[in-house]
Formats: sequence, C-alpha cells, structure tokens
Amino acid sequence: MSGTEDLFTPVHKGIRAMIYDLSARLQTNDFTDRDSTQALAQDLEIDFAIARSAGCFLCAFAAHAHDEERVVFPRSAEAANALVTELIRDHQGLTRRELEIGQHARALGSISSPGERTAAGIRLNQLANELFAAYLVHMNREETELVPVMREHFTDAEQAQMRGAIIAGFQPDRLFALLGWMLPALNVSELTELLASVKGAAPPPFMKAISDIGAAHVDAERWAVVKQRVGI
Ligand SMILES: [Fe+2]
Ligand SMILES: [Fe+2]
Repeated sequence: MSGTEDLFTPVHKGIRAMIYDLSARLQTNDFTDRDSTQALAQDLEIDFAIARSAGCFLCAFAAHAHDEERVVFPRSAEAANALVTELIRDHQGLTRRELEIGQHARALGSISSPGERTAAGIRLNQLANELFAAYLVHMNREETELVPVMREHFTDAEQAQMRGAIIAGFQPDRLFALLGWMLPALNVSELTELLASVKGAAPPPFMKAISDIGAAHVDAERWAVVKQRVGI
C-alpha cells in the first residue's frame, strides 16, 4: 500500500501556531498586572469541563494526544508497535507537564504580591518552554516517523476514515476553535485541498461554518486564492 494521506501535519500546524502565540504572550506578560495575568492563567486551564473557552490551549494539546491514542495509535501499533509505545510514553510526559503548568497557572490567581507573582511568572515561562520544546519534538517525530508508516500500511480511504472518527468525537465548539488556529496555519495548497474535500462531502451549513472561519482568520490574500481555486 502507498497512501498519500497525512493525518498529523495539518493539525500539528495549528498546534504549533497555538504554541507560538502562547509562548509570545507568556514571555511578554506583565505579571504585576493582575488582569492580564488572570486572562493568561485562564487560557492555561487543562480541563475542558472547567475551562471558560473551548479554545483553551492546554485543553487542546491534551485533547489532541487523546484523539491520537483513541483512534490512530491502536491501528498504527499493529504496524509499528515500538514507535507507538514511545509516542504514548511521550504523551504521558506531556500530560505531566501540562498538569503542572495548569496547577501553577491556577495558583497565580491567589498570589497578591506583584513581586511574588512576577517570580511565579518566570517559573511559569520556564515550565511552558519545557512543554513546548517537548511537544515540538514529539510532533516532528509523528510527522517524520509515523506518517510514512501509516502511508505504507493504510490506504487513503482507511486514513480518511480515521480522520472522520476523530472529527466525529469533537464537540462543535472545540472543533471550530481548533480550526480557527489550523486554517490560518496552512498554506494555499493545503487549504485548497481541505476545503475542496469538505465541499464534496459535508452538509452546506458545515461548509459555510468552515468558510466563515477561513474568512475571519486566514490572511486575506491567501484566502482569496483558496476561494477562487475551490469555487466558493
Ligand atoms: Fe502525539
Ligand atoms: Fe500529534
């Protein structure tokens, strides 16, 4: 078999965009300012049930790993058990780091001294940098090592079915929040392919919702090319 599908890279581009954005906010945040620190801490919630928005960053990182373990890894382990075992071990390490960051971020809210908050902010940055570094290496590994295995062992139709099973497990608000990061992180060819496949398969209201996200988040020039190529 030699498929061409790639279940990992597009969503990873969205996650990388989230990491870069969060990293920039973390390293420029004024931790003496209680309001901006509170807003940042809320975005570092790791539990969707508690989070104030479906776009919470750590929730999305944790959910992505969970989706892989639920749908993709059980199948790919048949072909690459040792690699998948290591990737699952990575996930456990990422989860530990996310939990620690979530706890640290929550604790920031109860620190009244601006000086102590600044010191805690420095530590929060360091913890987040460690998570981001590990997460970036992990995603690269999935793309460079697991994508070729998947292409070798599964047809495009089988991989598309796995993608469908992942998407079917999303709450709509979580899906749209992720697409708000993912669409602007894709290049013109990837966007055209994604939109064309949605156009051919999804109900019109879903297509409209995705088009609206693209129009709102993707760079205007790039989006105009995509619209013209897809015919929307
Ligand atoms: Fe992963
Ligand atoms: Fe991944």
